[in-house]
Amino acid sequence: MTGPAVHLETFGCQMNELDSELVAGALGALGYRFVRDAGEADVILYNTCSVRERAEQKVWSRLGELKKHKAGKPELVVGVLGCMAERDGAAMMDRHPVVDVMCGPAELDKLPALIDNAVRTRRSMLEDEPDKAARRSAKSVALQGSASRRSSTLAAAGDSLEMLDLSRAVSPIDANARKSAYVRITRGCNKFCTYCVVPHTRGAEVHRPPDHIVDECKKLADAGVIEVTLLGQTVNHYRFEHGSAVRVDGVVQPQKGRTYKGSHHRDAFAGAQTTTFADLLARIHDEVPAIERLRFVTSYPRDFGDDVLEVIRDHPRICRYLHVPAQSGSDRMLKLMNRGYTVGEYYEFLDRARAYLDQPEIGRPLMISGDVIVGFCTETDEDFELTKQMLVRSRAKNQFIFKYSPRPGTVAFDRIADDVPEQVKRTRNNELLALQSTISEEINREQVGREFGVLVEGLSRAEKKKRGIDVKPGTGMVEITVGGRSSAFGSNARAPGAGLATEPVAHAPGSLVQLSGRTDTDLIVHFDVPTSGARAPEDWIGRIVPVRITEATGLSLFGETTGTG
Ligand code: 5AD
Ligand code: SF4
Repeated sequence: MTGPAVHLETFGCQMNELDSELVAGALGALGYRFVRDAGEADVILYNTCSVRERAEQKVWSRLGELKKHKAGKPELVVGVLGCMAERDGAAMMDRHPVVDVMCGPAELDKLPALIDNAVRTRRSMLEDEPDKAARRSAKSVALQGSASRRSSTLAAAGDSLEMLDLSRAVSPIDANARKSAYVRITRGCNKFCTYCVVPHTRGAEVHRPPDHIVDECKKLADAGVIEVTLLGQTVNHYRFEHGSAVRVDGVVQPQKGRTYKGSHHRDAFAGAQTTTFADLLARIHDEVPAIERLRFVTSYPRDFGDDVLEVIRDHPRICRYLHVPAQSGSDRMLKLMNRGYTVGEYYEFLDRARAYLDQPEIGRPLMISGDVIVGFCTETDEDFELTKQMLVRSRAKNQFIFKYSPRPGTVAFDRIADDVPEQVKRTRNNELLALQSTISEEINREQVGREFGVLVEGLSRAEKKKRGIDVKPGTGMVEITVGGRSSAFGSNARAPGAGLATEPVAHAPGSLVQLSGRTDTDLIVHFDVPTSGARAPEDWIGRIVPVRITEATGLSLFGETTGTG
């Protein structure tokens, strides 16, 4: 008999994509299988994002659509995971009774048990009392979910969650399908930027033990992964104190002979010693040589020591790509946002990073990307002008630009009026997009004539359109394989290599096929390969091949392969 069918959809950030992958792996190990079509599913899971209101609205509308579907299929189990579950709590159940299971991002280790329980409860209720099934089982499972939502201590939360990350190391990964993977190094965030919901939904910052991280990288490399992206809300803040425990408030305390159960605490007894972010990068680079590209997101502008820059400079497989959001170019805004740095300090950091790492003459330019919020509370035209100047001065290869969206539970929501009209936010947003596209185009043009290794991800978007393959821009669904089972994930532009090698490639002989991939600095490159060459087009996918850039537009680069990789 086949196990229950799960449809899992992911909204939001890379951290959510990783969470979904781990949850899928854990459910897969219990015999669940994954389906692309929600209509075929016994269990529908939404892994949600609360960073902006729009992300939440998408989930609300999905839940609205499910109402009718579930009326005709009472055994269906619906789960809301991630930040919305944490933020809304039981209120979501009142608004949408279709929801059976809720699970916050800091409780995902409990999810397989919750789902398993919900599926069994529903089935047995349907057999016993089919008429009452929908009403009764929905509530009972929900209460179980919410009762376990809050862990009593950070240590407990960190310990059990650590098991979820560790579970990946023992579940088989389809080597052919994965060349690129995320590895978490830090959970949660302690920065409390006034606009941001993340510290409230993901909890206090907890750093994973370096041995676990290195082991995970090794397992992934053994399974064929060649590109690893380390994840954390403030990755460069990573710091692991060996022989210490982390208190509930996130402060590191020396151990006083406390004992832990479980082998994954061996680091706690390694003696007083610290692994910094620089140490961690160097360790992964040196101990896992099969990882050809080591990347990390997101960096916080303030905590970037020269030690990290030196390690990046001196370790060739660490990518010279930094995602370091400035958020605004106005010191007044930065202060109101509680960012903890001035724009002058941000520039000082960029100059320092470029002095260490920007070496186009040896084929190793540094690429920066960032995030900007427009229309944050009280933002004036003068503040906005300063942000424009910041964009010009930063010369990022791209900027993710967001209109401020007030989030309940944050300091800004409670204390500062959202007083910039929507129309003004929209205009500022468009102005920044236009300005950034001229900057991006300029940077892209500078790449013409240079040669880069490109990790081939699949058919280019243009090629897919030509072939009538649905590319669903924005929230597109990409097939990826987890633990040998296929599952559907939402993808975003920043997801590296999700769905590598799963693209169907059928082609006419004697023609050209356009493939696309990324440089180590995260530039998107398109290039043509012949359908009847020595290597079939699909066999280029998942390899790093040398490509010389011949043409540039605002969004992408075009090139020619100079070898087969
Ligand atoms: N409104 C708009 N953008 C936000 N971000 C975080 N919170 C908000 C908000 N309330 C943006 C920041 C962050 C990125 C992930 O999302 O720019 O860096
Ligand atoms: Fe949110 Fe600021 Fe933490 Fe980033 S650093 S997750 S913006 S609170």
